[in-house]
Parts: sequence; C-alpha cells; structure tokens
Amino acid sequence: MLGDLTPSEFLREYWQKKPLLIRGAFPGFKGLLDREELIGLSCLDGAQSRIVTFEKGKWSLRDGPFRKKDFAKLPERWTLLVQGINHFLKDGGKLLSNFDFIPHARLDDLMVSYAPDGCGVGPHFDSYDVFLLQGLGSRRWQISSNCEMALVPDAPLRILKHFEPEAEWVLEPGDMLYLPPKYAHNGIAVGESMTYSIGFRAPSYQELATQFLIHLQDNLEIPGMYQDPDLEIQDHPAEIGKKMIGKVKKAIDAITWKEEDIEHFLGIYLSEPKPHLFFDPPRRPLSKKRFLEEVEKEGVRLDLRSQLLFAMDHLYVNGEMIPFSNLDRSLLKDLADRRFVESVETDEETSSLLYRWYSEGYVCIGGNHD
Ligand code: SIN
Ligand code: CO
Repeated sequence: MLGDLTPSEFLREYWQKKPLLIRGAFPGFKGLLDREELIGLSCLDGAQSRIVTFEKGKWSLRDGPFRKKDFAKLPERWTLLVQGINHFLKDGGKLLSNFDFIPHARLDDLMVSYAPDGCGVGPHFDSYDVFLLQGLGSRRWQISSNCEMALVPDAPLRILKHFEPEAEWVLEPGDMLYLPPKYAHNGIAVGESMTYSIGFRAPSYQELATQFLIHLQDNLEIPGMYQDPDLEIQDHPAEIGKKMIGKVKKAIDAITWKEEDIEHFLGIYLSEPKPHLFFDPPRRPLSKKRFLEEVEKEGVRLDLRSQLLFAMDHLYVNGEMIPFSNLDRSLLKDLADRRFVESVETDEETSSLLYRWYSEGYVCIGGNHD
C-alpha cells in the first residue's frame, strides 16, 4: 500500500514531513459506495455531512443532515463531504485497518467526497495528516508547500487567496496521495469523482491543555478552606492584599499531577465518541449465558463506532476508564488492536465486562456487524 516503502521507511521519511504520491496503492480499488449511497448516508442523523458550493464567485457551505431533494437544486459547482464513513460501513473500518502502522489514538476518521466534473472545495490546507485515496473516477491534485495564510475573506472554508501549485498529478482509482498538515492542496474532479480521505487527528496543545484542566477539575480534591487568623487592618479595605494573594497562590501551587493523570486524561479524551454518535443496544439482547456461548463460537467484534484504547494499567472504552486489574489483558488488548477476536474463552470478570459492552452496543457477536 505504500509502494516500495515499508511502514517504518514511510514514517521516517514522509510522515509529518513531506507529501508522497503512491500509484496503485490499492490496486483495483473502485470505492466502497456509489454516489446514491453517499447521498443516502448524508441524510442520516448520525452522519456529519457538508455541501460546499461555488456560485457567482462565492464559496458557500451547508451542514447536513440533508434530504434527498436538496440534491435536486444545487448550483453547477458543488461537492458533498461525509465524515465518519467508518462508523457506518464495515468496509470503511476494514480500509482503515490498513493504516494500523499509525496508532489508533492518532486516527480521526474516514471521509468520503463526491464531486461532479470540474468541482472541488477550492485550494486550502488542513491541520491534519491525510491520505487521499482515489475511488470512483479521477481527480487532479495540485499541491504547494507554500502555505501562505491569507484566506479568501468571508468564505466558510479556509480557502487560500494565493495558491500556486508546485506539483500536480491526476489520481486514478487506487492511487493515493499523502499530505502532512498545513500543506496547501486543491483537488479538481476529472469527470465524476469520489475521494476517500483517511484523516489523522492532531489536537492543538491549547485544546489538550483546556481539556486536561477540565478533566483535572472533575477529579480534583483540595482539602481545607481559606483562613486568616493573622488578619491585620489594611489601609484600604477595598484592596486585595498581598497576604491574601500569597495564601491563595500557595494553595493553588499545591495542585500537581502525575504522568498517570495525563494518561487517564488522554485515554478518556481520545476514546470519547464524537457528540453526534450514539450506540444501539441490541433490541432483543441474549442472556449472558447465550452471549458467552455465541462469542466462544463466533468471536467478538467492536462496534464500528467504538473506540477501545489502552495504556499501562487501564482500558479506555468510549470515554470510560476501566482498570485492567484481574481482567484478561491479552484478550482485551487483542480486541483493541484488531477490533475482532475470533473465539472468546475467558474468565468470569472479563466475560461480564464483554457482556456489559454487548448490552450497551459497544461490541457485537462475530461477524454480525450490520
Ligand atoms: C475532497 O475530497 O474534496 C476534499 C478533501 C481534502 O481536501 O481534504
Ligand atoms: Co483538505
């Protein structure tokens, strides 16, 4: 899939460094769905979809979910983008597993775009690493390392005002282009075109720190309360005195965190489902006994929407932290890595956990995915 490169070579030479074009990365790849199926997904409540149009020199953006009839009255130039295809399509999840040489914690999702001939979303850059895999038809990609930040004013997307391509290629089905973050690019459909974007998240440190402080706040216990038995008369009663500031600083300085706290935060934050995602518990759940008989025969699979990560002594499932304690670590790590375990035979505690996950819609039996 990486042409002549091994995953280690790719990571060393290209990842987060420079673009790479791979002809025939997925030989024979024609895409996972057609235009009508993509439109169908863009009409679902749980899908994040956008339509970008260009009309009379102006870019516009509309957020989904859409109705089928929205597609009947579009201007000549439009593109449909649907995020999170891997949460709906088993083959989407399978496609992503080819990228397992990059940690799951870095993965964002699979986005699919549809554009009629000559259309695209305009020259822009993303803050993400992305693999642009061509499905249906062809697309001309122009790229530039010169990511000058001037943007078209009032455009709903970050469209670049000045864009001078340094290189361009027409990608055919199965060809793939890797772009590091902040690399300017412009994709123009050549005939009807569908592109599969495998995107990797890179939260800003600002976002991480803000979220960490929120996490800390929920888990913080600071004993004691402000006291001033040493209070002295001040010249100005309205002044916040130095002594008061000093005492509060001392109390706040006592707040510390360990690597373990960072791990817990990251696990919870990175496994948290996106806000529009909901799990479907089984409508007629099997008894625990039947469930265990089934998973012993058929295996167990993570639901397409589930994110299961682990670190050191904890598992993180869909925003929840669970200590490994006496659980079957090797089975659960295998399930997290491969999202599927063929045949499950395990201890009582792990069986109970799997059954709870099944009841919540986090896992399902064997291949009965969709
Ligand atoms: C597209 O597929 O049209 C846009 C993908 C991208 O530029 O990131
Ligand atoms: Co882009």
